[in-house]
Amino acid sequence: MTMKFAVRPQLHGYDTFAAFTEAHTVTERDLIFTQRVLHDAFMKDTPAQTLFYDDFCGGEPTDVAVDEMLRAVRKLGFERLIAIGGGSILDCAKVLALDSDKTVAGLFAAGVQPGRKAGLLLIPTTCGTGCEVTCVSVFDFPSIGSKIGKGFDAGFADHAVLIDELLSKIPYHVFATSSADALVHALEIYLAPRASAYTDMFCMAAIRAILQGYMRIVQHGRDVIQQDAKAYLTASNMAGIALANVLAGGVHAIAMHFGSAHHVPHGEATRLFLPPVFKIYYEKAPDGKIADIARLIEDVVGVSDGGNPFDALDALLAAVVPTRRLGEYGMTAGDAGRYADKVIETQQRLLVNNYVPLSAQDIARVYSELM
Ligand SMILES: [Fe+2]
Repeated sequence: MTMKFAVRPQLHGYDTFAAFTEAHTVTERDLIFTQRVLHDAFMKDTPAQTLFYDDFCGGEPTDVAVDEMLRAVRKLGFERLIAIGGGSILDCAKVLALDSDKTVAGLFAAGVQPGRKAGLLLIPTTCGTGCEVTCVSVFDFPSIGSKIGKGFDAGFADHAVLIDELLSKIPYHVFATSSADALVHALEIYLAPRASAYTDMFCMAAIRAILQGYMRIVQHGRDVIQQDAKAYLTASNMAGIALANVLAGGVHAIAMHFGSAHHVPHGEATRLFLPPVFKIYYEKAPDGKIADIARLIEDVVGVSDGGNPFDALDALLAAVVPTRRLGEYGMTAGDAGRYADKVIETQQRLLVNNYVPLSAQDIARVYSELM
């Protein structure tokens, strides 16, 4: 199998937003795209122009909301787009910086790859998506009934900037679900058929750091995440570097559909489906690369004699990233077969990265175990 690996944006790390502003000489010729709450907490003194995501969209972005953002951005003059936020904001920014007059539907059409009209800096304020280093934008298309992702060559930022301070006010639930998403990226890509020695290295470092962080939360309480901010930002960035080279797999495929059907945030949806999918993988092929992950879990989390390492992972996630049963999101047992078919129909782009193939029956079993 052929191999290709790249880290596209330059990476930078700063303790504070002020240090970033100075080092990158932010001026009124820049456009900061962010959320009001983040602006008020960290960027009140910025000389840059500002555009607020919340003026267009309450939750995760739909194609309709992004079309409105495109109309607004095309009226503004700026040299660099500096996006500061969670995955939704960074994903929108990749499209907003494109040199095109097309709508989202037009941009997502096969073969459409416009260039960039401005510099692009992506600054994450959660520790999960890793999308500051990927070129993919994921939007919800309510008319299709699923989230769809597309990679734009020009979607890679010039600079990805990690700023510890921006994690200092993160709500616990956002921290928990976003870091779990980073863990899912690293776990899925480590097992993907297209993984390489390079993605393996980034994935293993990310998995170990996040599991160690979660163990510290169990042992010392939730306040410990502030001390570990840099470790989480780095781990999610490393998982993102892997994700920029190899796509995630079945957990993401199932989460993409479920998240769209029940309006569940991305990190919460991927965290939901991680344990049952990995238990099926471990059952089907325990001696492949998943054995490396099993050993890492034994090492960091600990597993009782004869216990299943993925039960131990499930228990750790239940303690650190609590979630609900699928019925509480509005799914019924009768939906399982139809949902599984829909995942197979719309998410082949991700399903080809599975550790072992998942049949419609396997996917239906994943749902039934979480009902
Ligand atoms: Fe993800």
